[in-house]
Amino acid sequence: MLILGIESSCDETGLAVYDTQRGLLADALHSQVAMHNEYGGVVPELASRDHVRRVVPLARQVLASAGVALADLDAIAYTAGPGLAGALLVGAAVAEALALALGVPALPVHHLEGHLLSPMLSPEPPALPFLALLVSGGHSQLMAVRAVGDYQLLGETVDDAAGEAFDKTAKLLGLPYPGGPALSALAAKGRAGRFRLPRPMLHSDNLDMSFSGLKTAVATLLREVGSDDHADVAAEFQEAVAELLSTKAMHALAQTGFERLVVAGGVGANLRLRARLDSEAAARGARVFYPPLRLCTDNGAMIAFAAGLRLTAVGLAAAAPAGDPARGSFNVRPRWDLASLTAAHPA
Ligand code: KG4
Ligand code: ZN
Repeated sequence: MLILGIESSCDETGLAVYDTQRGLLADALHSQVAMHNEYGGVVPELASRDHVRRVVPLARQVLASAGVALADLDAIAYTAGPGLAGALLVGAAVAEALALALGVPALPVHHLEGHLLSPMLSPEPPALPFLALLVSGGHSQLMAVRAVGDYQLLGETVDDAAGEAFDKTAKLLGLPYPGGPALSALAAKGRAGRFRLPRPMLHSDNLDMSFSGLKTAVATLLREVGSDDHADVAAEFQEAVAELLSTKAMHALAQTGFERLVVAGGVGANLRLRARLDSEAAARGARVFYPPLRLCTDNGAMIAFAAGLRLTAVGLAAAAPAGDPARGSFNVRPRWDLASLTAAHPA
């Protein structure tokens, strides 16, 4: 089955063509980072308008590079949430309209399901079950994944997401948005441990996490140090986040008895986090799986792929019942609990 995937939940327009037999045939991305940069963060209205401009040209581009025609498509998958309402509506409207015109089903996909299944797009995919560490700009969660559609939340951040902590701390350091890549580049020139930042909730007896105190501690520290010290502050911040995430992930492996850890979401691109997870997992005989680096951040491939797995698991008829009275009308869900998903239906 041939699926066109559309991602437009935040500041990236991602399109992809995925074949359930042949794999990923083409994917293309337009990032709005440069456009939002001058405002220091994502401006929702600008994001929606830019998705409108990009989505159709990118769809044409991926179809051409996959060597397929619109008429060959069996389904259109799109991110239905969580995310920015206006941005989500662009992808949803295009997907639903295209599906209606082509007479194929439109499949709403949960953005985080896309992220957490994305390591299965790598050359060495993990087998089920696995533990998923989802670390993006909006989420930090540990989930037990026993099957496609069977997601159990084990723990999550009680305040800022890990990516949000990177972004806010980078801002304090005068670095550009998005903060994660900029902060980790600065950290590479510094030394962790010279300054000591707290590890909030490191020893709490649950799998929840907290990152907002770290950003506050950086703000306090920056009043006392000079700009020469910024690289060391960045390195210590990065170390603290990596330690918090890897410690909680190891506790979750112990609790579930799982031997595979999957890391997904933008913060999963952080090399220091990867190094800590790899060595701590190896020490307990577990293995860590990552998506291909370019699929760590938002993309259309993970959306088409998640829809493809659902279609393969339950079949086209169950995934998109014919004669659905709601056909042609649709909803997006800016807030949406991943644990409410089932194998057959997105909610
Ligand atoms: O998954 P993602 O692309 O978008 C969503 O939030 O859904 O994640 C973006 C987040 C941003 O907060 C960004 O700063 C962070 O991922 N990020 C990183 C790195 N690359 C991206 N954080 C730390 N280190 C990185 N190398
Ligand atoms: Zn994302």
